[in-house]
Amino acid sequence: MTKSNKPHLRNPRSRQTLRPVHIVGTGSYVPERVLTNADIEKMVDTTDEWITTRTGIKERRIAAPEQCTSDMAAEAARRAMEQAGVDAKDIDLIICATMTPDMMCPSTACLVQQKIGAKGSAAFDMEAACSGFLYGLEIGQQFITSGTCNTVLVIGAEKLSTIVDWGDRNTCVLFGDGAGAVVLQSRGEEHGILTTCMGADGSLADLLLIPGGGARHPASKESISGKMHYIKMSGREVYKNAVMAMQTAAEEALRRCNLTVADIKCIIPHQANLRIIEAIANRLGAPMEKVYVNLNRYGNVSAASVAIALDEAAREGRFQRGDLILLLVFGGGLTWASCIIQW
Ligand code: ACO
Repeated sequence: MTKSNKPHLRNPRSRQTLRPVHIVGTGSYVPERVLTNADIEKMVDTTDEWITTRTGIKERRIAAPEQCTSDMAAEAARRAMEQAGVDAKDIDLIICATMTPDMMCPSTACLVQQKIGAKGSAAFDMEAACSGFLYGLEIGQQFITSGTCNTVLVIGAEKLSTIVDWGDRNTCVLFGDGAGAVVLQSRGEEHGILTTCMGADGSLADLLLIPGGGARHPASKESISGKMHYIKMSGREVYKNAVMAMQTAAEEALRRCNLTVADIKCIIPHQANLRIIEAIANRLGAPMEKVYVNLNRYGNVSAASVAIALDEAAREGRFQRGDLILLLVFGGGLTWASCIIQW
């Protein structure tokens, strides 16, 4: 995406729909093991000072070897269901956004279904890299709006530590593991999810990719020796596009709802880099006090980032019932999305 080719939003529709959709419970889970910048200093040629000033990250969580994406997803889901007061048998659909599924097949969502005891629900994974949770939220709310489902579980979960090259200082300092989840229902009131804007630009796919392990480069001796199963990223290019796309998506969502940034109580952006977050806040004219940040503790957890941040911000009381919140994401694809919710 260049300046002359600004991110395009293809689903211009405000949420004046048949059934308002509400987030009725949130939950998150992060593994116990903490990997600090000081720990990473011992692994690659980097410093706490470089990581802190360039990214804002101080530490990240790393899952145990036997702990899978589905384990973290299931725990986040249980916490969201408990808060919502929803039983596993009530779940109609499970959507798991992840770029680190337990296996290529079956879907991680099916494994979560078994772990939480939601037998009989529909379940599928969806992949939009770091944007996956908001893509999943939009899909989930569409199923409820249409009347197809009453209760949908949307999860963002990642074990990024398995696709990070721990010898590559350009990427290994950035990522962590964890999961976040929400339960969606229509509870009859006016407010809820007001609008979601999504977009993508596949011409920029090469800026962030895991080239090996798919149909193009199946696992082979060559793919392994070439480290093709690890994440590759053109950081500076991703950075520029992230700022532009999230700004445009935020402005479009505000325009659709006839709101200004002054109306928003809390902005929860993708937690990739503090400088990206500050640049977006600055461009939107939002003070940083309005912006929720937890990347210092978790790094970038891709599809789980905004899901974890939403849960933490809600539990910390950063917004109350009726307040407006703005979610923003950006990731590989390239993909991006924004969402305005009246809590
Ligand atoms: N420690 C020390 N030096 C480093 C490190 C490190 N960990 N990593 C890179 N450097 C060096 C580079 O080699 C480079 O050196 P050179 O100038 O001698 O070549 C120098 O630091 C500067 O590198 P830049 O890439 O220009 O650094 P930048 O300020 O852009 O920060 C970063 C890099 C943090 C990756 C940033 O570009 C970024 O955050 N990009 C966006 C990432 C993102 O948002 N991803 C979201 C999507 S992720 C997903 O979908 C899974």
